[in-house]
Amino acid sequence: PSELGELVTSHMREIPDFPTLGVLFRDISPLFAAGEDFARFIRMLAAHYRGRIDAIAGLESRGFPLAAPLAVELGLPMIMIRKAGKLPGPVLREDYELEYATASMEIQPFTVAEDQRVLIVDDVLATGGTANASINLIERSGGIAQEFLVLMELTDLGGRARLPERVACQALLTL
Ligand code: PRP
Ligand code: MG
Repeated sequence: PSELGELVTSHMREIPDFPTLGVLFRDISPLFAAGEDFARFIRMLAAHYRGRIDAIAGLESRGFPLAAPLAVELGLPMIMIRKAGKLPGPVLREDYELEYATASMEIQPFTVAEDQRVLIVDDVLATGGTANASINLIERSGGIAQEFLVLMELTDLGGRARLPERVACQALLTL
């Protein structure tokens, strides 16, 4: 959906050397602050997914402002997948590798219904670590990871190739 990609492009900032030297940070805060353009963006996404999914999962933190309005627009449940240690138990946990460290994401499995088709939403697909962890958490909770949606895919980092083939991956913009 190219109109969606154009909205992302026109409401994104590129900041060199953030958070560390050599990294070009893509900041999507302007999209969230765009008022009617952001509302139109969410309505277009909702029209695309209406009837094809049963719940939306947002990934802390930049996936939350995407997943929540989409869930409300579609009248569907919103599932939180959070960084470890934030959610009261019982939780399921997935660990994954970062460049120099390990990260973990958690879910409260009762927030996912059996065989529910879940759209997982985040801002960026980079190495795919976060995406994979979230797919595993939805599946371990009894849901179906129907599709993984991101605003931007950073193709150099090869994240898409690390996702399981059974999960469709939709990027509004490839960079
Ligand atoms: C960023 C981004 C994605 C993830 C992508 O989140 O928002 O969630 O990294 O990277 P990956 O594909 O290599 O896993 P970050 O952990 O920086 O936290 P934030 O969303 O809370 O800012
Ligand atoms: Mg994130």
